[in-house]
Amino acid sequence: MPQLFPEAVARPLELAEANGMVRIRSACASDVENLSVYFTGLSVTSRNKRFMGARTDLASVAAECVAKAGRPDHFTLLAEFGQEGQRRIIGETHYAYDAAARHGEFAISVADAFQRMGLGFQMMNAMETRAIDLGHEMIAGETARTNAEMRGLAKKAGFSDTGLGDWQSVHLAKRLSHPR
Ligand SMILES: CC(C)(COP(=O)(O)OP(=O)(O)OC[C@H]1O[C@@H](n2cnc3c(N)ncnc32)[C@H](O)[C@@H]1OP(=O)(O)O)[C@@H](O)C(=O)NCCC(=O)NCCS
Repeated sequence: MPQLFPEAVARPLELAEANGMVRIRSACASDVENLSVYFTGLSVTSRNKRFMGARTDLASVAAECVAKAGRPDHFTLLAEFGQEGQRRIIGETHYAYDAAARHGEFAISVADAFQRMGLGFQMMNAMETRAIDLGHEMIAGETARTNAEMRGLAKKAGFSDTGLGDWQSVHLAKRLSHPR
């Protein structure tokens, strides 16, 4: 990986629209404050979609995401935008394995100004690669029925509706293919 992004988990990608580079990497303890700033900077609409409801305790949410990332079978990936020597978080995905259900569950968000540039899809791919490395066979997630962005992203990433949702939410899942 290029030296600018030494901890990247996927090849850094150029965001031509934003005139900078993005790397996807694992979150660590020193990211809590910046992740909290990132959550605070999301529009109310995006934040409500990400958490499927209003959250005001964003510092605790950020701390929880990072703390849980230290457990086996859990991780948080961050998308970091680099421009003129400065780096800032512009996306995140949190993944947690549910041993009883035998699948990983995820939530994801991309900063409003960076949506619809392909970053969500790249993060989903990075998350799947990590889940496969952990030996997991299925990923699932839940989103509001009205969340066209997430439903579109999930469909593009190969997820299907399991039918386990209710009138408000849709449950999406994907079986992971392991290299033989
Ligand atoms: C859902 C979200 C993560 C998508 O991230 P993104 O970086 O904008 O997605 P991408 O640019 O990679 O788009 C991938 C695909 O998603 C679908 N998609 C993305 N935005 C869409 C929109 N506004 N309407 C319909 N489909 C959309 C499309 O199929 C798109 O593929 P295409 O560009 O080839 O048509 C982003 O919209 C977001 O952060 N939303 C708020 C938080 C949220 O809803 N999280 C989900 C709950 S966990």
